[in-house]
Amino acid sequence: MRVRFIGTDGETVTEVQAEPGDSLLRVGQAAGQPLEGTCEAQMACSTCHVIVSAEDFAKLPAAREDEEDMLDLAADVHRTSRLACQIMLTEALDGLTVRIPGQVHNMQGR
Ligand code: FES
Repeated sequence: MRVRFIGTDGETVTEVQAEPGDSLLRVGQAAGQPLEGTCEAQMACSTCHVIVSAEDFAKLPAAREDEEDMLDLAADVHRTSRLACQIMLTEALDGLTVRIPGQVHNMQGR
């Protein structure tokens, strides 16, 4: 299956092949995306925050409350924001497209 990452510039697209059952965070890291995943999927950080395309967001199981709580603390949060470590890939998500949020410390006026 394919997964597409859109860079923080909103333009650079990285498309990779992924296996169902993998977490989106691991796939992103393997693809060299700037997703730290500091807490290793414990939902205790928000460094794996991604913005899911609206179309794909509708296909994902709803976020649990602790995920919502972590997202409240993340920077550049959107309506379709999710924690990549909580997204498990399935065939139905083929073509999943997510955007990497702007950096917290980016002062260049995004
Ligand atoms: Fe920390 Fe996902 S890796 S919340």
